[in-house]
Amino acid sequence: MAVSGLLFIGFVLGHMYGNLKAFAGEEKFNEYAHHLRELGEPMLPYEGFLWIMRVGLLVAIIVHVACAIALWKRAADARPVKYVAKRNSGSSFSSRTMRWGGVTVLVFIVWHLLNFTVVKINPSNGETGDPDHSPYALLVDTFDLWWMTILYLIAMLALALHLHHGTFSSLQTLGLTNSAVSRARARAAGWVIAIVVAGGFSLVPLSVLVGIIEK
Ligand code: HEM
Repeated sequence: MAVSGLLFIGFVLGHMYGNLKAFAGEEKFNEYAHHLRELGEPMLPYEGFLWIMRVGLLVAIIVHVACAIALWKRAADARPVKYVAKRNSGSSFSSRTMRWGGVTVLVFIVWHLLNFTVVKINPSNGETGDPDHSPYALLVDTFDLWWMTILYLIAMLALALHLHHGTFSSLQTLGLTNSAVSRARARAAGWVIAIVVAGGFSLVPLSVLVGIIEK
């Protein structure tokens, strides 16, 4: 769970950084999306790098979800009788929302892939009649709709909570929280990753909504 989780952290950091290219304008953003597909050529075929990444992410998500189900079951078997009253002393909100927060992030990923990658749903099409499916057009048309921006911001909040505890937890699993100092460092890493990733991702939808990024 920890290793697949760290792989996701690497991916979201890279993806978030790439998204910030939207601030450089339409041409630069589409150029970046195009370069991503040419990465590694001629050693790799067109989209070769992208496919290696997709397969890696798919394996990681299967491992991550399988581990989550196994842990969920182990916890249920260890305590088959429900607590009469539960007092959450000493546990963080993010640690208590790992399961349902994780499910929320998973549902978001399915919607996100349909939206931007698999079906390329341009939600403004009906209104504008714009058949443009370039990455930049999809981005701007999507977040021009206030409810889509809200939907993504809610997903980023769920992601922030998941990353906050997930980062600490993965470092703990890897044996990197054995002293008070290293535990404090792992906690700080959780805050930094959560704020940088979710904050960085949120900048683009918000900037489209207020008109800083436009077509
Ligand atoms: C505000 C947040 C986000 C925005 C604006 C955004 C935007 C995009 C865009 C524009 C693409 C298409 C890129 C292209 O076709 O070149 C894309 C693809 C993708 N995004 Fe996101 N993304 C966000 C958050 C996330 C998060 C949190 C995850 C995962 C946890 C994620 C996972 C993916 C994946 C797996 C792809 C498909 C890559 C591929 O196989 O081509 N995204 N995203």
